[in-house]
Amino acid sequence: MKALQITKYGEIKDSLKIAEIDTPKISGSEILIAVKAAAANPIDYKIVQGHLKDLLQLDFPVGIGYDVSGEVVKVGDEVKNFKVGDEVFARVPQEYMGTVAEFVAVDSKVVAHKPDNVTFEKAASLPLTGLTAIQALEKVNLKKDDRVLIHAGSGGVGSFAIQYAKSKGAIVYTTTSTKNLDWVKALGADRVIDYKKEDYKEVANNLDIVFDTLGDDYTFEAFDIIKEGGRVTTIVGPPDAQSAEQMGIENYELPEKLAKLIEKKSAKYQYTWMQPNANQLTEIKVMVEDRTIRPTIDLVYSFEDAIKAYEYLATGRAQGKVIINLAEILEN
Ligand SMILES: NC(=O)c1ccc[n+]([C@@H]2O[C@H](COP(=O)([O-])OP(=O)(O)OC[C@H]3O[C@@H](n4cnc5c(N)ncnc54)[C@H](OP(=O)(O)O)[C@@H]3O)[C@@H](O)[C@H]2O)c1
Repeated sequence: MKALQITKYGEIKDSLKIAEIDTPKISGSEILIAVKAAAANPIDYKIVQGHLKDLLQLDFPVGIGYDVSGEVVKVGDEVKNFKVGDEVFARVPQEYMGTVAEFVAVDSKVVAHKPDNVTFEKAASLPLTGLTAIQALEKVNLKKDDRVLIHAGSGGVGSFAIQYAKSKGAIVYTTTSTKNLDWVKALGADRVIDYKKEDYKEVANNLDIVFDTLGDDYTFEAFDIIKEGGRVTTIVGPPDAQSAEQMGIENYELPEKLAKLIEKKSAKYQYTWMQPNANQLTEIKVMVEDRTIRPTIDLVYSFEDAIKAYEYLATGRAQGKVIINLAEILEN
């Protein structure tokens, strides 16, 4: 089968190669999916660039990609909930990384049936970002009438998080640049802040929750705009102590500046390292089918142009999700 592989750490164009490799074999609880679409995510190019070297031990060449939608073509002996021909979607666990390929094997425990009312491309756009948004907002007990700022509302995570937070009855502020104002507003945000023209800290303050998807100074600034006892949930800032332990980081200490800010505001600070979860994927399926969540796709690339998809995503300017279509190579 054809697969896009990471051959070494470095620049995207030098490190990614299309290769001909064996189709994966499956055992007991696994299924084999004929991939129709895969999504590109920032973690993919961060891995290529070597930013996750300390966390993930990789033997090159290794497949790239975590998000998949496609059709089940084989099931292991122990699989009860899927049959050949089922249309599914998943964020595959680390050991199955490599969804930008004709086929991917994965444990059926992390897979769900895809939403019936959307294409494979749209279904592939949802797992990683949707699970991240749900898990990060659940960690800080998002609830009705919470005033929440979601940074980067035009990003993959942000565009899902806005819709999810609105469905929970929250009052949603979000940041984006001028060119994205209209479509981000249409996702349901109550106040879209144009960071090119406005100081977001003046518009959104005394908040219950900041969802930090940007990191660096944004993580620290979150404490200026939450109310006393407010919550900061991050997917890019430093891990909290418990998350660091779960991620296997030894002798971890929260940066002193952050610890002081948490104490000063009596705040709750939570880091999320997204975990595959089939129940939450089914929750996403239901929300897509009842139109609570609309997938947001920016560009779709062919498999042959998959490296360009990653180069585009790495500009940091994508408007929603970047998708790689693999249905065409399966048809030829
Ligand atoms: N911990 C985890 O498990 C986890 C899971 C998923 C993602 N992440 C991380 O979370 C981050 C976001 O992921 P993503 O998939 O949403 O990324 P993405 O889709 O690549 O985000 C791109 C968007 O970010 C916006 N943006 C960039 N700078 C901004 C700023 N200063 N203010 C407001 N918006 C800004 C851009 O809009 P403009 O062009 O308008 O600036 C663009 O639309 C990434 O670093 C990713 O690695 C972590």
